[in-house]
Amino acid sequence: MFKIVVCVSGGGTNLQAIIDGVRAGSIPNVEILRVISNNKSAYALERAKQAGIEGICIAPRDYADREQFNEALLYAIDEVGPDLVVLAGFLVTIPPQLIREYENRIINIHPSLIPAFSGTGYYGLKVHEAVLKRGVKVTGATVHFVDDGMDTGPIIMQKAVQVLRNDTPETLQRRVMEEAEWVILPWSLALIAAGAVTVEDGKVCIAE
Ligand code: GAR
Repeated sequence: MFKIVVCVSGGGTNLQAIIDGVRAGSIPNVEILRVISNNKSAYALERAKQAGIEGICIAPRDYADREQFNEALLYAIDEVGPDLVVLAGFLVTIPPQLIREYENRIINIHPSLIPAFSGTGYYGLKVHEAVLKRGVKVTGATVHFVDDGMDTGPIIMQKAVQVLRNDTPETLQRRVMEEAEWVILPWSLALIAAGAVTVEDGKVCIAE
């Protein structure tokens, strides 16, 4: 079994896509060991509970400083020893120790076609607001490995989504999730678990 930990902050629809894929067999041989949220009231924790997966909360406000929070987060991951850490809407700066220890073993889903609308300040609905403000006609989502930059790691998979004339940030967010995120995150995970994904010279290579 290929073991993963999923980190979340909010609604957990991407977590749900993974849970559903594991159940349906479209993500074979993957086990979700634990779900970690930085937010006690994240609905994602309820989704974990309903799926019979352990969910824990590690919130910055429960620790004296950032260093202690970082250590607690790292401990909660190391304790179960996953093969891969999946950031599924985890809106927290990833501790450098974690990035070092899990080099090319942390993936993130970002709601735009990186490098567009990515980096500091681009997360959640803010991405879609910026897309509409700029007036681009195509957006999408990206799954990438996490390195020590902000949304700069090797890109695993991207999927484009049309921006429609009457879109609001909310309608666009929903369509990007439905058409792109819930497709490419489970798919990327299945490929990684099958050993089909390698990184060479900072670029991802997927075996045919
Ligand atoms: C998703 O749209 C994900 O791409 C985004 O947060 C949302 C979480 O939704 N992540 C980022 O913006 C990371 N920079 P979910 O909790 O329903 O999966």
